[in-house]
Amino acid sequence: MFQAAAKTLSLSRGASFSIRRYCFKTPAKLRVSEAVSGAHLGANVKVQGWLRSVRPQKANLFLHVNDGSALQSLQVVASSELNDPLLTLGSAVEVTGTLRKSPHQKQPVELEADQIHVVGDCNPVDFPFKKKERHSLEYIRQFPHLRCRTNAFSSLLRIRSEATTAVHSYFKENGFVQIHTPVITSNDCEGAGELFRVEVSVSSKGEKFFSVPAFLTVSGQLHLEVMSGAFSRVYTFGPTFRAENSQSRRHLAEFYMVEAEVSFTQSLEDLTKVMEDMFRSATEHVLAHCAADVDLFHKHVTPGHRVSPQGHLLFGVTYSEAIDILNHSSQKFAFPTDWGCDLQTEHEKYLVKHCGNVPVFVTDYPYDLKPFYARDNQDHPKHTAAAVDLLVPGVGELCGGSLREERLDLLRARLEETGLEDTYSWYLDLRRFGSVPHGGFGLGFERFLQCILGVDNIKDVIAFPRFSHSCLL
Ligand code: 4AD
Repeated sequence: MFQAAAKTLSLSRGASFSIRRYCFKTPAKLRVSEAVSGAHLGANVKVQGWLRSVRPQKANLFLHVNDGSALQSLQVVASSELNDPLLTLGSAVEVTGTLRKSPHQKQPVELEADQIHVVGDCNPVDFPFKKKERHSLEYIRQFPHLRCRTNAFSSLLRIRSEATTAVHSYFKENGFVQIHTPVITSNDCEGAGELFRVEVSVSSKGEKFFSVPAFLTVSGQLHLEVMSGAFSRVYTFGPTFRAENSQSRRHLAEFYMVEAEVSFTQSLEDLTKVMEDMFRSATEHVLAHCAADVDLFHKHVTPGHRVSPQGHLLFGVTYSEAIDILNHSSQKFAFPTDWGCDLQTEHEKYLVKHCGNVPVFVTDYPYDLKPFYARDNQDHPKHTAAAVDLLVPGVGELCGGSLREERLDLLRARLEETGLEDTYSWYLDLRRFGSVPHGGFGLGFERFLQCILGVDNIKDVIAFPRFSHSCLL
């Protein structure tokens, strides 16, 4: 091969001859979003995707091809001679032809086809999605391996992808360092015991892989706190696991959590400011970058739902004020509303409504309700911790956070009370060496999507939901 190349080289050096170019005009491969943009009118192109509609007419055949790059499909117009019984809803195709201005207002561009090749056929009888039907989210949820082929779910996945970018952009623009916190850990950060245990034997005698019990993480907080001894702003965004035996519309066994930790805090407001800014910035980014997809949701999937971040006013009430509001309400609640009881979804929803259906911060929860790391407010007789939850319309709790107990003596005393002093000796070290007031929060990414899209069930905002008693793909 090298010899052949050398021969060609010496030949081309020695003799002066014109190099013949073989100008086969190969059509440019375009994504559907590029094809419909109007920037390539007159070009000979190849487009690949899946059929969203097939409309044979007397002289012409009309197809809509979608490749997931945009909500809008590309209209293909072909002579009816190119019709093929394998061209059905859901089949995969490759179309070559010329992009033209469309005479119809609905789509500015169409592809005049020279060739249509069916790459993969799709039996329309067995295919669970039917022509012209708007299937409900409940219906398409039954087909987790196929639902990305519907308009609604592909819009959701594009929005989710863009919202992920929005979260990272917010933190990057605001000087946070991203930390990849571990998925496997020995901590039960929240102390609620909702842990998935990781157990691997490495010998037939049952010798274990790890020398301590290992679990899937319920929160990256403690690892972020390690980093906040050297970085004043850190965040993490990744899968989080809770073995909650719940069939609720807002709980998953595997969900994505955005967590931030800020050092040198002075009050809870340092945290609520970051929560509010991130919430607004991510919402604005999604509305600006996925307008068509969000519009589809607000028009057809969750009609009537609107979100306008500029219009949001974030109210703040203390837990004690929240309890007063609940106790003065005429609504009958299933769960108790005595001071010291945890706020349940019904209470959270009532509070949000009471405050005018806007996001609400609830601060200063009973000390005994919060995990060991929450900062003691040292108040009396109602003993509270500097913790905050952000409650949002339709969803309830979106974020949970707190100032962390940075005072070694108080933290050690609390860990001793629960017999956790040895387990968390490394955590106490963080308070021994250059401890600073700090705090952070976690935001449930799926609940954020539910909130901006008005989606009732959390299983409809994640590609592959994991929940108790579910089958896994
Ligand atoms: O309030 P949580 O439990 O807070 C923590 O885990 C803190 N350690 C975070 C931190 O301070 N760094 O969880 C945070 C958020 C909740 O407000 C909720 O939105 C979401 O995570 N969340 C869930 N989302 C879906 N399914 C579940 N099972 C969830 N559990 C919590």
